[in-house]
Amino acid sequence: EGSMLRDSFGRDHTYLRISLTEKCNLRCTYCMPEEGVELSPAATMLTDDEIVALASLFAKEGVEKIRLTGGEPLVRRSAVEVVERLAAIEGISSVGMTTNGLLLRRKLDPLLEAGLTALNISLDTLDPHKFTLMTRRLGFERVMEGIERAADSALPTMVKINCVLMRGVNDDEVLDFVELTRELPVDVRFIEYMPFDGNRWNDTKMVPYAELLETIRGAHPSLVREADAPNDTSKAWRVPGYAGRIGCISSMTEHFCGSCNRLRLLADGSLKVCLFGNTEISLRDALRAGATDDDLRALIQAAVWRKKARHAGMHNIAKGQNRPMIKIGG
Ligand code: GTP
Ligand code: 5AD
Ligand code: SF4
Repeated sequence: EGSMLRDSFGRDHTYLRISLTEKCNLRCTYCMPEEGVELSPAATMLTDDEIVALASLFAKEGVEKIRLTGGEPLVRRSAVEVVERLAAIEGISSVGMTTNGLLLRRKLDPLLEAGLTALNISLDTLDPHKFTLMTRRLGFERVMEGIERAADSALPTMVKINCVLMRGVNDDEVLDFVELTRELPVDVRFIEYMPFDGNRWNDTKMVPYAELLETIRGAHPSLVREADAPNDTSKAWRVPGYAGRIGCISSMTEHFCGSCNRLRLLADGSLKVCLFGNTEISLRDALRAGATDDDLRALIQAAVWRKKARHAGMHNIAKGQNRPMIKIGG
């Protein structure tokens, strides 16, 4: 029991990220090219029933935590129903969502009622004009309202704000984001910009963790390191006396692959064993061809076994062999 999700390096995969859609209502520059991406045909998208069936199988094999991603997960009309059905699966103790927050105003309460336990909201700037530049769309006020409501809701300690830092774009706002944690009991997480197909990454645009820490310490010399939860992507810090915390996601300069417990079920039914690289198998094809649970188990186990110890390193992550971020979900 459980061993199907153990890889060749002994990592147990208890966390499944499920992408609900390839669509998004923003066009963030770090996530997709200007011209957008070609969407997979609608018939290739997993149905609600297929998502629930696969999630149940993963739960039987040891997955405890699910996070819904996209594209933008709330663009899927059935998002709230999916949360409800996943939260009811035996063995699933947490159902989270990573969202851009645009639709939260309408969807927050239904999501909480459906059993959502954790919410990560992307917000890369506190400047409305810059929001439009970075996302190529309007909506700053709506997102801020969503964040405030979430922080006020029943799950304040489970709210995280994700801020992807890009040099020359939003790196001048680090201390403003830190100030958000003075009153708001949320985690503000700074994320190193990562390379994906079509996002024009280069290392000079990325703000390394070490440099970020120096900036924050310059203003807050008393910054303290806090304990991380097991398998966290972020390293937690706090300004003494502040309500919230600061997290740093150093995927490029200090990867955390050694404690990776994540698998990804993409919107088209592909199982992706690492954010980088192209080890994928189509569980959708197998399901639709009539695979039994045992057939699926064998497929999944084989894919998990091919997972590498770590990603190739920021300068060696092959271009053109992964997907654009919007089709992965982070
Ligand atoms: P929690 O479930 O709350 O721990 O959140 P999370 O950090 O796992 O997920 P979230 O969707 O909020 O993503 C925040 C950032 O971490 C994004 O830039 C993701 O791409 C990145 N991230 C999430 N999971 C992984 C992972 O397994 N490996 C790497 N390298 N980055 C990841
Ligand atoms: N590098 C780092 N993080 C990214 N995200 C999207 N694209 C990138 C990238 N290129 C983040 C989003 C969201 C999370 C799922 O991944 O901002 O918060
Ligand atoms: Fe896991 Fe791959 Fe992310 Fe490393 S890069 S933490 S192996 S998903």
